[in-house]
Amino acid sequence: MHNDIEKVLITEEEIKAKCQELGRQLTEEYDGKFPLAIGVLKGAMPFMSDILRHVETYIEMDFMDVSSYGGKMRSSGEVKIVKDLNTQVEGRDLLIIEDIIDSGLTLSYLVDLFKYRKARSIKIVTLLDKPSGRTAKIKADIVGFEVPNEFVVGYGLDYEEKYRNLPYIGVLKPRIYGGEEE
Ligand code: XMP
Ligand code: MG
Repeated sequence: MHNDIEKVLITEEEIKAKCQELGRQLTEEYDGKFPLAIGVLKGAMPFMSDILRHVETYIEMDFMDVSSYGGKMRSSGEVKIVKDLNTQVEGRDLLIIEDIIDSGLTLSYLVDLFKYRKARSIKIVTLLDKPSGRTAKIKADIVGFEVPNEFVVGYGLDYEEKYRNLPYIGVLKPRIYGGEEE
């Protein structure tokens, strides 16, 4: 598996330190509140688990699974809810947790949905931000790392459902995905 990786962009240690830092930030942000943390499956799972361990205040957790139609490596903007929340969001302070924002289409769909459901506040924390891919007008409130316009895997991010269990973020060797986009 590690042999498929061309280079490591963000090491396990860097991710660990970042989760601690962001967890502290969220503790200050939400102290005295009872936010609902919403993990976007499946990619955000390791990040959510690691970051929330460093939040030292009450927090509720729920998950949403959405899939976007389109190619293997790019979302189309047409989002389908595969698993919805079990929790009412009306009047709640929401913290959406994502693995990566690329085009921003997935998140902008979710933000619109939660506004429609009358959330009190909506904040976004993303481990990775790929600003060069952005087509939707959306910005994360908290970003772990900016990444260049390359397809990245590991720490939740997959290629054909593989590599989510890598402890670091890396770039695949082109031979793995054939070098083409779709
Ligand atoms: P959008 O474009 O809607 O994309 O912001 C968000 C979702 O697209 C996937 N994505 C990636 N997955 N490596 C991945 O493994 C990448 O470089 C990448 N860029 C986008 C991911 O599922 C993300 O939640
Ligand atoms: Mg995702």
